[in-house]
Amino acid sequence: QNVRFIKVGGKEEAATVMLERMRKELDEGLRVLGLATGSTMIPVYEAWAKSDLDFSEVISFNLDEYVGLGADNPNSYAWFMNHHLFSHKPFKETYIPDGTAEDLTAECDEYEALLRDAEIDLQFLGVGENGHIAFNEPGTPFSSTTHVTELADSTLGVNSQYFEDRSAIPNTALTMGIASILSAKKIVLLAFGEKKRSALQELVKGQKTTDYPITSLLDHPDVTIVTDLEGIAE
Ligand code: GLP
Repeated sequence: QNVRFIKVGGKEEAATVMLERMRKELDEGLRVLGLATGSTMIPVYEAWAKSDLDFSEVISFNLDEYVGLGADNPNSYAWFMNHHLFSHKPFKETYIPDGTAEDLTAECDEYEALLRDAEIDLQFLGVGENGHIAFNEPGTPFSSTTHVTELADSTLGVNSQYFEDRSAIPNTALTMGIASILSAKKIVLLAFGEKKRSALQELVKGQKTTDYPITSLLDHPDVTIVTDLEGIAE
């Protein structure tokens, strides 16, 4: 089986497990790390930030960014990463797609080229309630590379909780594509809470469908799913 499950009691236990996982990866020579944003990742970054882990030789790539939001905007993923991780732990280099780039398509192409060149050793992922990974919404081809995408209505609904109101959330984003994500050597996806159950169930069914981008992981040789949901892993 290419997908293995780690059942945890909750987010805090997951953070401890991910601290040890990261320690092992660094000991084994990890150089390029794929990072995710979202509330799911906060306890993990907090655990890394407080630890003695050394990322100073690591290059990181983030999955996605809202169009129009720069690092000075607290709703940008650049701000999120600085706040939760990079301000605590120096990295050799950190890359996030630039949502304020004048030519967004060129920015995506450049980002994809950097990614291809670097080769991600380990990619962390969350999952949207609708099964999206990064900002690859339902219907995105599994062959997609870094691109500009329109956010699904359900995603705008869920993610607008962090914005002043629904009209403040950008409806487009830059995202690594599904093929970009699958090119990572290893993938770890974290999903907590009942709202993520239906997405994980689609993965467990074992049927690939673009209706649920998470099912693209069935094509990958080394996936770990960390969840607190009962009855998923059996
Ligand atoms: C956003 C991100 C995804 C992330 C998802 C889940 O839509 N683009 O990469 O996986 O949110 O967020 P949360 O962890 O807050 O549930």
